[in-house]
Amino acid sequence: MKIADTGSALREILKNAPAPRVLVPTMGAFHPGHLSLMQRARKIAGPGGTVVVSIFVNPIQFDRAADLDAYPRPMASDLAACETAGVDVVFAPTAESMYFPDRSVTVTETLLSRSLCGAARPGHFDGVCTVVLKLFLLTGCESAVFGEKDFQQLAVIRRMVRDLDVPVEIIPCPTLREADGLAMSSRNTRLIPEQRADAPRIRRALLAAATLGAPTEILAAARAAIETSPLARIDYLTIVDAETLQPVTELLRPAILATAVFYGEVRLIDHAMIAIG
Ligand code: PAJ
Repeated sequence: MKIADTGSALREILKNAPAPRVLVPTMGAFHPGHLSLMQRARKIAGPGGTVVVSIFVNPIQFDRAADLDAYPRPMASDLAACETAGVDVVFAPTAESMYFPDRSVTVTETLLSRSLCGAARPGHFDGVCTVVLKLFLLTGCESAVFGEKDFQQLAVIRRMVRDLDVPVEIIPCPTLREADGLAMSSRNTRLIPEQRADAPRIRRALLAAATLGAPTEILAAARAAIETSPLARIDYLTIVDAETLQPVTELLRPAILATAVFYGEVRLIDHAMIAIG
């Protein structure tokens, strides 16, 4: 496994790397969800292709300095996990090598990124799109793997690729969960035991409410089931169209019930599909 810490080192390593090149963009602090993405990438690349994993805690997608500072960075164990997963190249750049201090170009998606996490975290998806496009360009990958857990991120990146003719195939991967249903996240390790024990209520609330009839009923039931906990504070709880991610008041097309919930300083997201008919 080769490791690059600057864009130029990565380009040098990848100059003669065999196709297909499959990229897994991450911010590290791996859990089995990340590893499932790497396995998927390995399958797509085949034994002869090249799997590239980027590990970069991207400062420009964080809206709160405390969240950026608190983000775990266990580089040694992450590298060992990549090795075990059969990754060929790890790209782990410093923020200084990724961004010029006077950088002035940003990729902005103006529709799908405005609801849900985008409304709660201004600038977040500009940061995500900008870094992901840079990673696509630096690696020259033919495809890239993303988790469905961050379904808004997946939708925004698909839109970026569509609208800018980016020649990268986007491969979605299902959400990996803990045995109690909590979606795996690097943030889960920051929960204190009482919060961790309470957090599976998010998934239960969404699944139970998503089967009820009207949007108002669904939202009221999910809100009640989450807010019963004194530990949980809802950041947003919304029903959006599955394709446009715009809020809906009527269920005419496939929709998604999505939430972000704070446990103390830790913000967890999850969603459930609402089937129509
Ligand atoms: P990060 O949060 O590290 O996630 C990296 C990838 O792992 C994303 O595609 C995410 O959707 C996926 N993932 C996270 N938890 C998962 C789970 N429980 N099951 C399956 N996949 C999961 O998302 C980012 O980093 C960044 O925004 C990034 C795209 C790297 C840009 O900086």
